[in-house]
Amino acid sequence: MSTCAVAALSSPPTSFTSERVTSGITASVQPSAFLGTKISVCKGASVLSRAVSASISRQPLVAPIRAQGVAAPADTKAPTTTKKTDTKSTVIITGASSGLGLATAKVLADSGEWHVIMACRDFLKAERAARAVGMPKDSYTVIHCDLSSLNSVKQFVDNVRQSGRPLDVLVCNAAVYLPTAKEPRYTADGFELSVGTNHLGHFLLANMLMEDIQHKENDTNRRVIIVGSITGNTNTIAGNVPPKANLGDLRGLAGGLDGVRSSVMIDGGEFDGAKAYKDSKVCNMLTMQEMHRRFHEKTGVTFASLYPGCIATTGLFREHYQLFRTLFPPFQKYITKGYVSEEEAGKRLAQVVSDPTLNKSGVYWSWNNQSNSFENELSQEASDAEKAKKLWEISEKLVNLS
Ligand SMILES: NC(=O)c1ccc[n+]([C@@H]2O[C@H](COP(=O)([O-])OP(=O)(O)OC[C@H]3O[C@@H](n4cnc5c(N)ncnc54)[C@H](OP(=O)(O)O)[C@@H]3O)[C@@H](O)[C@H]2O)c1
Repeated sequence: MSTCAVAALSSPPTSFTSERVTSGITASVQPSAFLGTKISVCKGASVLSRAVSASISRQPLVAPIRAQGVAAPADTKAPTTTKKTDTKSTVIITGASSGLGLATAKVLADSGEWHVIMACRDFLKAERAARAVGMPKDSYTVIHCDLSSLNSVKQFVDNVRQSGRPLDVLVCNAAVYLPTAKEPRYTADGFELSVGTNHLGHFLLANMLMEDIQHKENDTNRRVIIVGSITGNTNTIAGNVPPKANLGDLRGLAGGLDGVRSSVMIDGGEFDGAKAYKDSKVCNMLTMQEMHRRFHEKTGVTFASLYPGCIATTGLFREHYQLFRTLFPPFQKYITKGYVSEEEAGKRLAQVVSDPTLNKSGVYWSWNNQSNSFENELSQEASDAEKAKKLWEISEKLVNLS
């Protein structure tokens, strides 16, 4: 079992305070301890400013500050209608502008059998990333999608439909991870950012696109894949590093995770950015299984989740301390040997998208040290059918599907 994130995905043993100023972002930091070493950490405005465009820190119990202007930006190209001669299958990958999503997009695009719709919040970054890794020009389309805004998700679905491409596979891959955040941040709709983006944004997207995927004719390879993580599974060593994932009785989620009427944490506890990420991953894995129970038999669509391995170099750790980000990859490579390159992880996710032997529905895939896939076991909570049903019903209300 990989020990990925044994250190990474736990709350840092430090205090970190940040304050928002009108002309920009400043951060004041206190010394912190990492691997027994005292370090000083400075988070610059450049790191925070990107996050602020979609989400804004706020003090609790004040009038909510919502994200600004998250509808499709001016630089989103109107998708052109597909040529009838294009016989490729179509896959949507959220968060395809970096890391696992980009590596997967590259593998599928290079195969010549897939057209990749890159569902990304930063259009130019996605376009540049696709070019930088050499994805053939006609193998992909970038369509704006900010998962931290329900309106943006709806706009994205409209744009996909306008493109005229029949959809085969959806990959819910994008995620934010805020291990050093002292205060919660919020989506445009007022949900705590990690669960709002990683779970609720994808929940709405997957539900809306089910209509399109299930109506695709004469095709057996129709799949919905939601990327999970070992860190949400408390039946593993990594999943037992505090703070552990725990959705409790979902009281915070039922209250809207807004920090005013309810807690920002699903279980109703105090804000903890690392735990919020792990909780969101439990939601991802529960959602996949609930979709399997509700839709697989009726539609033939395959639902799957996976843990791709510890990809210690990706942007997921962008909000972690610089020293941590420097030491984590070699630590995983040479000490735990749990390291997986972005390229290898991309091949694994691409397998779950397209390999006919990985077509079983309701499975959480993992890979052994020889890179062979196997059906892994989820923790008790991440496979709790009652909890999955309750999560589904609350999430439906929050994203206005019921
Ligand atoms: N890295 C690991 O070791 C590891 C292990 C297990 C599972 N995972 C999972 O793998 C998946 C990909 O993570 P990664 O490691 O590849 O990290 P990453 O490089 O940071 O990729 C995350 C992607 O999500 C996008 N994103 C973030 N917020 C978004 C929003 N509001 N709307 C749309 N897109 C948004 C990012 O867009 P920008 O480029 O615009 O920032 C980026 O493209 C995640 O689900 C993560 O939980 C990772």
